[in-house]
Amino acid sequence: MKTLSNARVSELFEAHFGVAPQAVVKAPGRVNLIGEHTDYNGGFVLPAAINYHTYIAFAPRADRSLNVVAYNFDNASASVDLDAQQQQDANESWSNYVRGVVQEMRKQGFKLAGGDLYVAGDLHSGAGLSSSASLEMALIRALTTLSGEAVDPTQAALMGQAAENNFVGCNCGIMDQLISARGQEHAALLIDCEDLSTRAVPVPADWEILIVHSGVKRGLVDSEYNQRRQQCEQAAAFFGQQSLRGVALDQLLAAEGKLDDLSFRRARHVLTENQRTLDAAEALSKSDLSGLVKVMKESHISMRDDFSITVPAIDTLVEILTAAGGGKAGSRMTGGGFGGCVVAVAPAEVIPQLAAAVEAQYQAKTGCVPTLILAKASAGAFS
Ligand code: GLA
Repeated sequence: MKTLSNARVSELFEAHFGVAPQAVVKAPGRVNLIGEHTDYNGGFVLPAAINYHTYIAFAPRADRSLNVVAYNFDNASASVDLDAQQQQDANESWSNYVRGVVQEMRKQGFKLAGGDLYVAGDLHSGAGLSSSASLEMALIRALTTLSGEAVDPTQAALMGQAAENNFVGCNCGIMDQLISARGQEHAALLIDCEDLSTRAVPVPADWEILIVHSGVKRGLVDSEYNQRRQQCEQAAAFFGQQSLRGVALDQLLAAEGKLDDLSFRRARHVLTENQRTLDAAEALSKSDLSGLVKVMKESHISMRDDFSITVPAIDTLVEILTAAGGGKAGSRMTGGGFGGCVVAVAPAEVIPQLAAAVEAQYQAKTGCVPTLILAKASAGAFS
């Protein structure tokens, strides 16, 4: 996909509306290094914002409507009345994010102001790199700039998540919105999803992040995702807890055979993944490559065997990267699962051998076409 910039999106606005925009804002997508399906269990995650974004160029309007044009959907447009009760549009899924964000911001007391908005993104859509969270965070930045209202980055993330949960109909956790809002350049963010506190963990200067899109279209994401959530809630309820954060690993292991096997395995993934995420943050902060490689490998196995969210092509991709890295590259599936991307972290000099192995072997072994995306840990929309 063609890379965009503030200047390019400003030109696109001008070509469409015939005047220059007031400003251009952007919000990044993300790659999660480790900590999968832990966010909605009050656990730990370690994502980085990446150098691929949703951009919005905008200018004020005299009335109280938003006139939104979407570059990635052939300049399709939508008009949103800021004072109306928002209704889902069954035909236009992209504009529902705008309506959902407006609805949640109005609920939180934001007055908002009318504007012309031109939205354009260079995130690979459908890859599981959070293009929707980046759209929500870019919208909140654009809308608060237009109205001159202040917003806290964590509040912005919560409003984006609420738009997904209450309006779009996706029961996601807080990770994607929070990292898109608060990401930091050259660092991953260790997020405690229980209290939403964050700690920047610098990525060593000579290491790089390689994302490989498996070419497997993510199927059944929503139904499988919601089912995993329910299974985790059931496991927590067995211990009389609201979330799995309140259950200790020893306690869970002692209940093997008493708790049904599926709930037991789902919970074992979450609780061991929380510990691996803390270990990964420690390893990253000390440039301990073998420590990071070990926990990323275990994370993938746990997602494959206990949480059952990988697919065969993704497992093959991780095997190719692991073999090519020779112990010097951590790799695992990243994101919600059932297709999407694999992430690898390795010293810069190891990256070419990873890329070469994927190009030589992956399509021949799986029939799927990979896309290699070199990513840099980047600043969030409000950082
Ligand atoms: C999706 C959700 C996140 C998180 C991940 C899995 O990206 O949006 O909240 O649950 O899946 O870690």
